[in-house]
Amino acid sequence: MTNKLPNVRLGIDIGGTGIKGAPVDVTAGKLTADRFRIDTPQPATPEAVAKTVGEIAAHFDWKGPIGATMPGVVKNGVLLTAANIDKSWVNTDAAALFTKATGNPVSVLNDADAAGIAEMTFGAGKGRTGVVVMITLGTGIGFAVFNDGVLLPNTELGHLEMNGKDAEEQASARVRDLKDESWKKWAAKVDDYLDHVDALLWPDLIIIGGGVSKKADKFFPYLDTRAELVAAKFENEAGIVGAALALGA
Ligand code: BGC
Repeated sequence: MTNKLPNVRLGIDIGGTGIKGAPVDVTAGKLTADRFRIDTPQPATPEAVAKTVGEIAAHFDWKGPIGATMPGVVKNGVLLTAANIDKSWVNTDAAALFTKATGNPVSVLNDADAAGIAEMTFGAGKGRTGVVVMITLGTGIGFAVFNDGVLLPNTELGHLEMNGKDAEEQASARVRDLKDESWKKWAAKVDDYLDHVDALLWPDLIIIGGGVSKKADKFFPYLDTRAELVAAKFENEAGIVGAALALGA
């Protein structure tokens, strides 16, 4: 599928377990075809991931701009951190690598920033002013901050220090799975984390995303935040949609 429609961009979301892509109508915030997913190659080296990104673009026979997410700090297309991915990503020019692998211009941004852009434009943060925080609870904790709809990129507050340790190692969804914790026990740590966020940023709205946001009814009742708290509207597709939206209409 070439992007004959000017409003369609290919979005690709690169995560620790899966790499998913789909064409997105950026004026409607909707996928125009079923998403295509390939397991993240292990080890997830830059070369192996780039090959997979190339396969996703080829699946859609894509010719045109591509937006891609990565789970780390991204500046000018270059990965600067790699908390949950192969360490060889640090200082890798992901944008250049994916551009070569797909034969199309690729822009890269942080996965939580992308998810936040999707929610602010078409989801739970649509039309919201003031300070909005998007938190994705998954393998890690992704974090994005918006003031009056404008993103402050790469905030990385999922790595806030909490009880002397990285918050991500205590309150991510992965930790709950690994330790087989009850929703109540895990939610107490998420609540503690949200208090830390509140003390720093005084958000007006907190949007919780990541796979667990589908089960908000299981843990939201244990959360007691000053700020308004809502579940993300986009579930698995926030990264894809946000990556495409970040390219502009
Ligand atoms: C990374 C962030 C990322 C988050 C969610 C964290 O470990 O540092 O860049 O947004 O995981 O994938």
